[in-house]
Amino acid sequence: MNILLIGSGGREHALATAIARSPLCSRLFCAPGNAGIAEAAKIVKLDADDHAAVVAFCRDQRIGFVVIGPEAPLVGGLSDALADAGISCFGPSKAAAQLEGSKGFTKDLCAEFHIPTGAYERFTDAASAKAYLAGKPLPIVVKADGLAAGKGVVIAETEADAITAIEACFDGAFGAAGSEVVIEEYLDGEEASFFALSDGDTAIAFGAAQDHKRVGDGDTGPNTGGMGAYSPAPVMTDDMIRRTMDEIIRPTVAGMKTRGYHFKGVLFAGLMITRKGPELIEYNVRFGDPECQVLMTRLDSDILPALIATATGGLDTVRLDWSNDAALTVVMAADGYPGTPRKGTEIRGIDEADKVEGVKVFHAGTVRDGARILANGGRVLNVTARGATVAEAQQRAYAAVDRLDWPEGFCRRDIGWRAIARERGDT
Ligand code: AMP
Ligand code: GLY
Repeated sequence: MNILLIGSGGREHALATAIARSPLCSRLFCAPGNAGIAEAAKIVKLDADDHAAVVAFCRDQRIGFVVIGPEAPLVGGLSDALADAGISCFGPSKAAAQLEGSKGFTKDLCAEFHIPTGAYERFTDAASAKAYLAGKPLPIVVKADGLAAGKGVVIAETEADAITAIEACFDGAFGAAGSEVVIEEYLDGEEASFFALSDGDTAIAFGAAQDHKRVGDGDTGPNTGGMGAYSPAPVMTDDMIRRTMDEIIRPTVAGMKTRGYHFKGVLFAGLMITRKGPELIEYNVRFGDPECQVLMTRLDSDILPALIATATGGLDTVRLDWSNDAALTVVMAADGYPGTPRKGTEIRGIDEADKVEGVKVFHAGTVRDGARILANGGRVLNVTARGATVAEAQQRAYAAVDRLDWPEGFCRRDIGWRAIARERGDT
């Protein structure tokens, strides 16, 4: 079968590598791709917002299956356009993608179907949002309702900070995404990223990971899309996974079905493991980046039958085998990230880094210029390693990082610290 993958990040390089390995895959195309994906797939110029062009390409190249990596084309309805054209596709419909596209939608679903999450209220004007704050415990969380590239969340330590955040949203700091605001209870605990595939009826667990959102060592500095991740996540014990499936994932799939939205795709639950158990912070409707890189590194099974069953039904008969190894990925970012990253600098040593045992370097924001690989985005490489323990995977990943010659790039030096402290018995 010919397959088209949409996206250009490290997540899509990991997906491309896994899909290309499948005996079911004849030809793999990717749009817009990056310099690393070009080694696993044929890169094509296609605008994911131009649905007619994507459908025409699929017909022309006899594409049997489309895999959509990022959220924007999902929220934009690409999955619906493909379905209308009779082309099966991994990734939920526009209506089902509201689980990521609208925090208020998700909170209302949680309330209706008794899914554990922080207490909340939705607002469309600043005055009532500010009035709600009176007497509420601090810190309190202020969120722009829509997609804001991970930047629309403020954990306000004081009422004054919460008021500033509310005003920023309604003053247009996040454009249309901030025309509605959700204010919610602060949840205290340890975070984990949990993944499940759903075909609209059945949901199966697809592993857990923990990422590092802050740019600096010791979890300091501004939030980013993610500076590194590892899997499995020690906090997600078998019991916690079972509870997450029973209390959060299955009620969500059933609730979506009741509302007529049949969720077909990957549910990426951002969880807070509190004293009470797993609570939902938010949903994403696509694989995490960089969490996908560590999940794909640990997946022993062929990914393609699972992706196809997610889209077309029959997940109840899919079994996935996972390696007992741990996997860890270190994000190399361009100087300036998460602000304006420096572009066009040359990266050397990727082949040398790839030679470290257990290591694979996934590309994110890279572009090829003749024989040279240049940085072309904020997060640029994901140096990913497997190992018997998180500590071993970390040691291999940093050994590979040290073989890279890219003075204009940086990474965190402590990815995996929490899991490694646990392995050592420190906590
Ligand atoms: P989100 O974009 O909703 O994932 O939020 C970004 C980050 O803000 C999360 O990964 C959490 O670290 C934090 N956060 C969001 N909501 C809450 C909450 N209710 N309680 C505590 N932390 C939160
Ligand atoms: N790493 C978090 C995300 O993909 O949203």
